[in-house]
Amino acid sequence: MAEATKETTLTEGLKAYIEEWKDRPGNLIMVLHKVQEEYRYVPREIAFEVARLLDVPLAKIYGVISFYHFFKMEKPGDNNLQVCMGTACYLRGASDLISELENLLDIGVGGTTHDGKFSLEAVRCVGCCGLAPVMMVGDEVFGKLSSDKLPEVLARFSD
Ligand code: FES
Repeated sequence: MAEATKETTLTEGLKAYIEEWKDRPGNLIMVLHKVQEEYRYVPREIAFEVARLLDVPLAKIYGVISFYHFFKMEKPGDNNLQVCMGTACYLRGASDLISELENLLDIGVGGTTHDGKFSLEAVRCVGCCGLAPVMMVGDEVFGKLSSDKLPEVLARFSD
């Protein structure tokens, strides 16, 4: 249960960061960025702590999180599948990739599999348009993808 503890307690690094930013303008966004960098999303307990330490209402924090799509309130899967829906990828069938992944994983866009292994996201251009359609898994780029290649890609991340 070490992970659960980690996600309900502020790390020393974060405490120091909040202390450093406490009285500066724009601190809430900076702190939330740091939290997401640490946990990959903004856990509820941590949002509560941030509200307390920065002395802002929790509702303001959730307002910021829901306004900026960048911030996540749900924990992403171990492998976050990011299918590019930029123009080049869209024109080369990115939506077919999304549909096939939804079928294979039995989740929708924004969802996470029950075992926590995969989550699925549709993202803007990731800058490899020459390889369209593209999917990123962490830092890895899978280009010129087609639906029939997806099981093979997923298998690489299934252990
Ligand atoms: S549109 Fe997909 S990488 Fe640019």
